[in-house]
Amino acid sequence: MTTVKNITEIKNHRVIVTRHGGPEVLQPMAEDLPEPRSGEVRVRVLAAGISAYDLMHRSSGLLPGTPKPPFTLGEDIVGVVNKLGEGVTTLALGQMVAGATFCLGLGGGYAEFICLPASELVPVPAGVDPVEAVCVVVNYLTAHMAMHHTAQVQRGERILVHGAAGGVGSALLELGKLAGLEMYGTASGYNHEHVSALGATPINYRTEDFVERIRQLTGEGVDVVFDPIGGFRQLWRSNRALRKGGRLVWFGVAAAKQSGLRVIPLTLLMVLLLKLLPVSRQLLLTPDLAKDNAWYRQTLVELLDLLAAGKIKPIVAARIPLAEAARAHELLESGGYAGKVVLVTDT
Ligand SMILES: NC(=O)c1ccc[n+]([C@@H]2O[C@H](COP(=O)([O-])OP(=O)(O)OC[C@H]3O[C@@H](n4cnc5c(N)ncnc54)[C@H](OP(=O)(O)O)[C@@H]3O)[C@@H](O)[C@H]2O)c1
Repeated sequence: MTTVKNITEIKNHRVIVTRHGGPEVLQPMAEDLPEPRSGEVRVRVLAAGISAYDLMHRSSGLLPGTPKPPFTLGEDIVGVVNKLGEGVTTLALGQMVAGATFCLGLGGGYAEFICLPASELVPVPAGVDPVEAVCVVVNYLTAHMAMHHTAQVQRGERILVHGAAGGVGSALLELGKLAGLEMYGTASGYNHEHVSALGATPINYRTEDFVERIRQLTGEGVDVVFDPIGGFRQLWRSNRALRKGGRLVWFGVAAAKQSGLRVIPLTLLMVLLLKLLPVSRQLLLTPDLAKDNAWYRQTLVELLDLLAAGKIKPIVAARIPLAEAARAHELLESGGYAGKVVLVTDT
């Protein structure tokens, strides 16, 4: 195995969830550097994404897949290859890479160093900002999966994107613009400029009835609704915003931020009802991003190329130092932002 330089004196700082609770349970700790196993590389993390799921896993142990504390959150990272494990030939020392940590079970990204299988990482093109690159990993992969694999949108179709200024919603609008779609997006008033700039007609879900507004704007309804919000009534109304034969793609429970985890069983109940009811519209679910490594790698490479070419430009809500992860979670909980919140390391 080869190393860039002798770094035995360097410690790995990572942030752990010390117990379930508020943002204050996120605490930095120091430990020896992790060693890559065969087929893995050690990455010096430059940027780590924060997701809505991180808040759920931090605050409660009830969500399936949440480990017992202490554990480290973080499902997407961008960094520099710092040490090669045995047998790794596809990546080089010093190369910038991006990837998700799904293979570790849960998280691991809120750290200065992380070991990941080389097969989970793809090179980041030269000149790309690591913070913008990390926004692409889970959010744009999710958006791409929902739009092109699940909904299979066609040029000229009309779509409604909920949470349109959020991390995944803004990614859907960027990809939707490239796909030549007519777009509508729900967001709070403070985010309408973002939604318009991304090429969609904004609808204020707080002050307007989005089903009525969509009918006024389109007549028959939209071809596809992308719903990462969830909730019994929300999903039903999303279904009502579709034209006959339209597709509803449900892929998240952002409503849990206000309503708590109880929104999950209620959402699943509506999913079941919509599946069972003989309605003239389809409900579609997105498959797990981690299931198909070949799709994941190829699509991530394509998305990073779009970023390098300036064809997509993720909205970075905030760049927050790793040690201040608790502040980043507070920002997500309080809302009022657009795009993705990213942790950065200062090493
Ligand atoms: N299946 C997957 O692979 C996958 C992957 C990533 C994320 N997700 C899901 O997608 C959800 C969104 O993720 P994200 O990263 O985009 O979160 P985010 O950046 O926090 O965005 C969520 C957005 O939801 C909006 N919002 C909240 N309540 C709303 C409502 N009732 N109606 C319309 N908009 C509402 C907020 O908009 P305003 O601030 O404008 O009010 C916010 O911008 C997550 O909760 C997660 O469940 C799923």
